[in-house]
Order: sequence, then structure tokens, then C-alpha cells
Amino acid sequence: MAENQQKLIHTFGALAELGHEVAHKQNFQEMIRTSLHLLLGSLAIMRGGVARYSRFGHELNMLSVRGLGEDFPLSLSLCYEDERQFLINGLNAIEVSQAKVLPFFQVYDSSFEKKRIELAVPLVIRDEIVGLIFLGEKANGEPYTSDDKEIICAMARHIGVGIAQRNLTAELERRVEENRRLYDDLRMTYKDTVKAFATAIDIKDKYTEGHSVRVGKYSEIIAAELGWDEDQIEGAAVAGYLHDVGKITVESKIINAPYRINAREHAELNRHPGVGYEILLPINHPYADVPLAAKYHHERLDGRGYPDGLYDTDIPYIAKIVALADSFDAMTSDRPYRKRRAANEIVEDLQRNSGKQFAPELVTAFCRAMLKELTGEKKDKKFSRLLGRDYLQNEEIIPQLKNALNGLSATSSLTFVSLD
Ligand SMILES: [Fe+2]
Ligand SMILES: [Fe+2]
Repeated sequence: MAENQQKLIHTFGALAELGHEVAHKQNFQEMIRTSLHLLLGSLAIMRGGVARYSRFGHELNMLSVRGLGEDFPLSLSLCYEDERQFLINGLNAIEVSQAKVLPFFQVYDSSFEKKRIELAVPLVIRDEIVGLIFLGEKANGEPYTSDDKEIICAMARHIGVGIAQRNLTAELERRVEENRRLYDDLRMTYKDTVKAFATAIDIKDKYTEGHSVRVGKYSEIIAAELGWDEDQIEGAAVAGYLHDVGKITVESKIINAPYRINAREHAELNRHPGVGYEILLPINHPYADVPLAAKYHHERLDGRGYPDGLYDTDIPYIAKIVALADSFDAMTSDRPYRKRRAANEIVEDLQRNSGKQFAPELVTAFCRAMLKELTGEKKDKKFSRLLGRDYLQNEEIIPQLKNALNGLSATSSLTFVSLD
């Protein structure tokens, strides 16, 4: 009795440890190995192995073995009848000598005999086979008692649950990965569609060819300089690409007029932010408030913009970014009635209009990004690609940018106050 109690206490200790192993080991292989050692050690079993079942291959693959030697098969096939019988048997110990009617025990008979495999425990968890445990003879040479088998089954259940959990995690990881790939595909499709759209907008306006695409890129530069994350930067780029989408409803002859347009034509052209907003509103944009950027990209901090004459804090931030990018591109592009001015003059212009037309912190970010490129701090030559390398080879531009940044940092905390 005392010996039996001792054994029981020892076994429960092992079981508790096994439960802990299954629950806490991050490394699956290590968990299986430790569990097998605990199982063999607690009942003084000479040798054994744990195999994981693969539903796809209909096979058992050894995860961990002890004392089985190199000639024991690492992968064992199961036929339909074996699987059916294992499921009926459930998680109970099978005496190998009594089970030779099953194809599995016939096929691998010699391997089992050579290693004196006495018990096989199918790991059936929630009516699914997840693996199988093989056990050799006990060290004392005695047959397994029903108590032994009960203990073995309790421990086997822990191992089975560990494998089932692992299967579930692997399946979950696979689905997460699949989802991520689908999302990436979708994201690419969205980006490509937006770019195609921007190109289509630009085709209509032959004098400002590539305007939308450039505004997208300048907006991206500003957002990146502000330290935004990847999605937000992409959102700013998309807002830039699509800001003038409303122009597709404006007559071509107004857009392409080789002269300064009159008041009526201006009114027609000035409808484009509102129209753009209407076009973009029904689309579900993943990263930024793209419709608001289209609607308010001609607003100014001092309230003298259009269509609503909003003041500073009432203008959506994304619209302020696009507004700066838009004006910068307009200033640095040739028009039929005027040539673009020198880069340093444009920087002066930005400086002068900071706090009136443009948000000061955005002008700062923009000038800083340009300076970083010109001083070589930034290797990616985005401005040079957009403006042409020669345009920025202006010796006054670096001092001008530095001057602008000094001046701007002193005023950047000022915000415009509405007068009404
Ligand atoms: Fe516009
Ligand atoms: Fe524009």
C-alpha cells in the first residue's frame, strides 16, 4: 500500500510537471522531448517515442524518441482502417501484441518487435487523431498494469493537447499570413488604381503634365519629414495624387487656356475642389481623409482661400499638406504665360506666406527635407528627380533654406486668429 501510495505521489508530481511543460514551453520540440522523458521516467519505461499525425500525408512523424535507435522508422503511414479504429479506440492504451489485426501493426510489426514496443496510445483529442505514443517494456520487465495505463493515458492527454494546440497555432499563423498577403495585394491594387487615376487627371491638363503625381510625391515628402508612419505617409501621397480629381468635370479649354482665365472661367475652375470631394466621398479610403484633402486644398490659413474661406484650425491637416505641395508644384512648373522662378525665390515665397497661406510647421518640414537632400544628409534624391538636378544647383538655395528655417522656427508657434 505504502509503495503504491509512493508511486501515486511520484506520478502525480510528474503529471503536474507535464501539465506545466505543456502550458509554458515556448519551444514545441523541447516541450515534447521533456514530456516524453517525464512519461518514461515516471514509470521507468525503457524506451518510447512521440509522433505527430499529419492529416495531409496520413502519416505519423516522430517528434521525439528515446532509446529507439536509428533503425526505427521516423515516419509511419496509416491507412483509412487504422485511422477509423484509432478514433473508435480513443485515447486509450493499445497492447501491440493484441492489435495485430490492424494493418498498421502488421506493416510495422518487425520494427515494433525489435524494439519491444508494448503499448501504443493514439492521441485522440476532440475526436481527432493528433499523434501517437509508442512505449517499450518497463525496466522491471513486468507487464503494464491497468493503473500504469491510466497514468500513461492521463499524461498522454497532456501531450496530445500540447500537439493540438500547436496545430491550432500553426493553422492560425497560416491564416494570418494568408490574410496579410491578401491585404498586401489589395493595397497594391489600390495604389496602382490611384496612380492610374492621377495620370488620367494629369492627361487632361497638358500644361501641368504630371502635376497630380508630383503633388502626391511632395505630400509624401512632407508627411515623412513630420515623422508619420508608413500608412499615414501613403495616405498623404494618395491625397496628393487625387486632390484635383474634380478637374475631370471642368472643360478642357479652361484648364488648358494659354492665357490668364477670366472671372467666369475662374468660377468654373474653382468648382473642382467641391466636385472632387463628391467624387471621392463614396470611396472607402484606407489611410487618410482623401475627400477632405480634395475639398480644402485651396483654403488658406488667413481665410482668403476657397471654397469655404476656412481659417487655420478649421482646415483639415491633410488639406494643409496637400495645399503646400500643390502650390509648390504650381510655382516650380512652367505655365504657358510664365516661366518658373528660381528655386531660392520660391523658398522666399514659402517663407513669406508661412502663417498666411501655409501652415508654418509644414513649410519648416518641407524646407528641412529639401535642405537634407541638398546637404547629402538624405541619400534619396526625391527633389532632384521631381525638379531636375540643375534647378537645385543654385548656390543661393542652401543659405536661403537655412535662413528660412531659422526664421520659421521663431514664428512656427504662432497660429492665425480668425477676425470674425
Ligand atoms: Fe486644385
Ligand atoms: Fe492642383
